[in-house]
Amino acid sequence: MADSKVLIVYYSKTGFAKKYAEWIGESLSSGTSCDLVPYEKRTKIQFGQYDTILFGGGFHAGQINGLKWFKAQINELTAKSSIRIGVFVTGAMPSDAPDVEPTMRKNFTQQEWETIRTFYLPGGLCYEKMGIGDKLMMAVFRAMLKKTDVDDQMRQMVAQSFDITSKEAITLVVEWCRTK
Ligand SMILES: Cc1cc2nc3c(=O)[nH]c(=O)nc-3n(C[C@H](O)[C@H](O)[C@H](O)COP(=O)(O)O)c2cc1C
Repeated sequence: MADSKVLIVYYSKTGFAKKYAEWIGESLSSGTSCDLVPYEKRTKIQFGQYDTILFGGGFHAGQINGLKWFKAQINELTAKSSIRIGVFVTGAMPSDAPDVEPTMRKNFTQQEWETIRTFYLPGGLCYEKMGIGDKLMMAVFRAMLKKTDVDDQMRQMVAQSFDITSKEAITLVVEWCRTK
């Protein structure tokens, strides 16, 4: 069976989704045709030429960056029913955090959840690359944590930059992209 033609579009504010998109692209490079497009270059995409489309973005206060735009594009593609759609999300939570699945689910309708393949990839936090608005939001979040009874580990974690990305985490995504 021929490999599918894959498109990966990613929205990355501080580099975590970009890193994962590039890792996935590299892993697919032997045998699978794969185009990697950053969100900033999205207007030139011709979605119709792909069999598999994967969108990646970071969590932002529970929302997935860029997902609204992505959903609008795929709604127009319903005519080509054979296209497979996947979304990977990266965030500060470790993969086994209980909030991962419910937070992801809130970004999709029931029908979308059943038809779009979703993956969570642990990212981290990068204060050095954050914009001023996001730095402020994180300051508010840290202040909020002080008033709640969350464990100290969580408080310490968000107090500084950290990177919990792992190449192993992409295994399922790569397998899914390869399978037609
Ligand atoms: C303002 C703000 C809100 C965030 N909200 C969440 C969140 O709700 N859940 C989560 O797991 N991570 C959250 N994060 C962490 C980012 O999702 C994480 O750094 C992600 O890996 C960023 O990916 P990117 O750099 O590719 O955009 C937040 C980060 C910022 C700056």
